[in-house]
Amino acid sequence: MDKSIQPCPSNSQGSPQTISEESCYLPPPSPMAQKTVLITGCSSGIGLALAVKMATDEQKRFKVYATMRNLTKKDNLVEVAGNTIGNTLEIKQLDVCSEASIKMCVSSIPNRRIDILVSNAGMGLIGPIECQTIEEMQKVMDTNFFGLVRLLKEILPDMKRRKSGHIIIISSVMGIQGILFNDVYAASKFAVEGFCESLAIQALKFKLNLTLIEPGPVLTEFENKVFEDGMKMDLSATDEETAEMFVNIYLKNYKQIFETLGQTAEDIAEHTVKIILAENPPFRHQANALYTPMTTLKYADPNGDLPIDTFYKMIFQHDKIFSASLNFIKLLRWKSKKSFDLGGTSSQ
Ligand SMILES: NC(=O)c1ccc[n+]([C@@H]2O[C@H](COP(=O)([O-])OP(=O)(O)OC[C@H]3O[C@@H](n4cnc5c(N)ncnc54)[C@H](OP(=O)(O)O)[C@@H]3O)[C@@H](O)[C@H]2O)c1
Repeated sequence: MDKSIQPCPSNSQGSPQTISEESCYLPPPSPMAQKTVLITGCSSGIGLALAVKMATDEQKRFKVYATMRNLTKKDNLVEVAGNTIGNTLEIKQLDVCSEASIKMCVSSIPNRRIDILVSNAGMGLIGPIECQTIEEMQKVMDTNFFGLVRLLKEILPDMKRRKSGHIIIISSVMGIQGILFNDVYAASKFAVEGFCESLAIQALKFKLNLTLIEPGPVLTEFENKVFEDGMKMDLSATDEETAEMFVNIYLKNYKQIFETLGQTAEDIAEHTVKIILAENPPFRHQANALYTPMTTLKYADPNGDLPIDTFYKMIFQHDKIFSASLNFIKLLRWKSKKSFDLGGTSSQ
C-alpha cells in the first residue's frame, strides 16, 4: 500500500479528507466510493491534463467524464489516457454554449450523479476594444460566463438535493485584476467570480463546496490561439498610439511573460486535485506563487489605485526594469529546474 497519504472517510460535505501516514491507513475505496467527476473542455490544456491525472489515480478514487464540444478533437486525450478509457475515464460531447448538449450529457451519466464538477472550458480575447466586434465579445461572455451558468442550472439542483458536491471553476488571476488589452476576457472572469461569490453563500446552506482556481499564465493552446489572433488583428479601427502600444509593448512582451511566469497544464491539474482532496477546500486558490504579489496589490488599497498605478509604471515608465526582472526570474527558474513550489509534496 502506498503509505505516503491516504484518504479518510468523507466529511459531512462529502469531500474526502487527506491525512498523513502517521494518523491513518485505509484500504483503497471500493468502486462504490468512487467520486464521479465531470470536466468541460478536455480536448486540450488544463482540462485534458486534469482528466488524465484523475483517471490515472492509483487508488481509482475518481470516475471521470471528460467532455469536449467537438469529439473529432479527442485524439490527444485518447492517446494520453491510454487504458483508462472505458474504465476510469469516459469521453462525452458537451458544448457549454448549448443547453441541449449539457442536458444530453448529464442525462447520460448514471443517476445523473456528478460529485465533482470542473468548469474549465474557456476562451481568450486580446486587443483594443475598437478592433473587436460585439459578436466576438459576446462569444467570450457566452463561453466563459454563461457556459458556467448553463452547467450549474443543470447540475446544481441534483447536488442540492443530495446535499453533497464540489464545484470547481477554472477562473484566472484576471478574475481578480484586469490587465492591459484583456478588457473583455477579464470582464468574463470577473463575472464568473461575482456570480460564484453570491452562489457560495447558498451553496454553504446545502453543504456544497465551491472553489475558484485562479491560474496566472499557463502554457497551453489558449496562449497560442490568443497570440495568433492578436497578431492577425486588423488594427485600422484604432488610433496609431493604441495600435503601437498593442503591437510593440503588449504583443512584444507576451511570449516572454508566458515563458517566464507560465505554468504547465499539469501544474494546474496538480493544484486542482489538491483542492479536491482537501478537508476544507478554500473558496479561492491562486495557483501561481510568482503572480501573487501582483494580486495582493488589489487588496492592499481599497481605492483601487495601487494595482493600476503599478501596472502603468511597470509598462510605461520602468519597462526596462520590468524586462530585466522577467529575465532574472527566468534564470532562477531555469537554475532550479523546478516549475513552482506547490506547498509540499503532492497529495496524490
Ligand atoms: N492558459 C492560460 O494562460 C490560462 C490562464 C488562466 C486561466 N485559464 C483558463 O483555463 C481554462 C482552460 O484553458 P486552457 O489554458 O487549458 O486552454 P485550451 O487548451 O485552449 O483549452 C480550452 C478548452 O475549452 C474548450 N472550449 C472552448 N469553448 C467551448 C465550448 N463552447 N464548449 C466546450 N468546450 C469549449 C476548448 O475546446 P476546443 O478545442 O473545441 O476549442 C478547449 O478544450 C479556461 O477557462 C481559461 O480561461 C487559462
